[in-house]
Amino acid sequence: MKKLRIIVAGVLTAGALYAVGPSSATAAPTQALAPTGQALATGGWHSPSPVNTDLPLRVLARKHGLGFGTAVDVNNLTNDATYRELAATEFSAVTAENAMKWAELEPTRGTYNWGPADQLVEFARRNGQKVHGHTLLWHSQLPTWLTDGVADGSITPAELRTIARNHITTVVKRYKGKVRAWDVVNEAFTDGDSPVLRDTIFRQHLGENYIADALRWAHAADPKAKLFLNDYAIDNINPKSTAYYELARQLRKQRVPLHGMGFQGHLDLQYPLPIDAPQNLARFDRLGLETAFTEVDVRFFLPVDTYKEAGQVGSFNTLLQACLLTPKCVMFTVWGFTDKYSWVPGFFEGQGSATPMDENFQPKAAYRGLQQVLAVAADPNSRRGF
Ligand code: G3I
Repeated sequence: MKKLRIIVAGVLTAGALYAVGPSSATAAPTQALAPTGQALATGGWHSPSPVNTDLPLRVLARKHGLGFGTAVDVNNLTNDATYRELAATEFSAVTAENAMKWAELEPTRGTYNWGPADQLVEFARRNGQKVHGHTLLWHSQLPTWLTDGVADGSITPAELRTIARNHITTVVKRYKGKVRAWDVVNEAFTDGDSPVLRDTIFRQHLGENYIADALRWAHAADPKAKLFLNDYAIDNINPKSTAYYELARQLRKQRVPLHGMGFQGHLDLQYPLPIDAPQNLARFDRLGLETAFTEVDVRFFLPVDTYKEAGQVGSFNTLLQACLLTPKCVMFTVWGFTDKYSWVPGFFEGQGSATPMDENFQPKAAYRGLQQVLAVAADPNSRRGF
């Protein structure tokens, strides 16, 4: 009952705060972050309303101590001024959509392509944003010199261990103090009712403990970075998320430096809503872990209609509410903020419209829903400290 009283009081307070309209509660943050470019010129859709929910997502999230992020394609930062403006003004966290993956960083053995990743880290510094590093070990987007070498035996298991350790150490050391957290291992478990560790080249040749090894290597390279595991289809309580819970419990028991669990949050309207996400995140929170929604988007078969739009709003809001209900859920990141560049149409034929803004960067109902949840949610929880 006590918690309910706090929430009710919180809502009243929040309401009072935003009910005063364009006052000190709204002037400073908007001025501080007001985009000077296209985003504002298109009619200033951050126009204060009676109950002022209409502020940038990063501003609304700040009262919860929550980082609000987006995946960023570095090419778009360079080539699209509106994309660049909105990536800066709407978000307090950025994740490299591809620039920090092994194939992009080290396309040929020993030769690193640091440019795009460095550009994102500098963009984040300039815009007061934190960087979520994605990702150190993943079975996808590996450079072919590595996968071919392992496949033909020219890279032995011992050499693979050295190569993996060197990769993690080199990358994490380069961004020491500049990357808040790393997805150290991405998508380690299989799907379905009996999840097991995927049979990746790391599992095959480094053994079951490769995850603990990778976490220790990353921790040695940057002891202050928060180290995450990250996966999809684990937003609700299911065999796969429970496999992660058991793994996290074991790793923490062995004092392996695991600090967080990333729930990708790639939702599809044809599947059930992960309505027990709060209970799912709570068990990881109780292990002492940070949690984060790291790659949220909500896809569906086109064309758009009012029902699908409502389902998309509800889906985004369900995950954001689950995060706000979890004391150490520190970050909510969308996997791209505009339909103009979303990965979804290229991977799921006939599906799309998965992000909070349309292809002309206009806010969709999903964007408005996220604003409203952030604006009215009680429990301003600075414990997150993002
Ligand atoms: O960089 C090459 C370029 O040199 C080449 O000319 C071009 C054409 O082949 O391909 C480019 O690489 C593409 C890469 O994105 C960078 O644009 C790959 O083909 C393409 O497959 C890759 O797609 C990415 C996908 O991961 C790969 O699985 C998506 O952009 C990215 O959004 C998506 O993100 C993943 C997360 O990392 C992990 N969680 C799931 C999520 C969605 O799959």
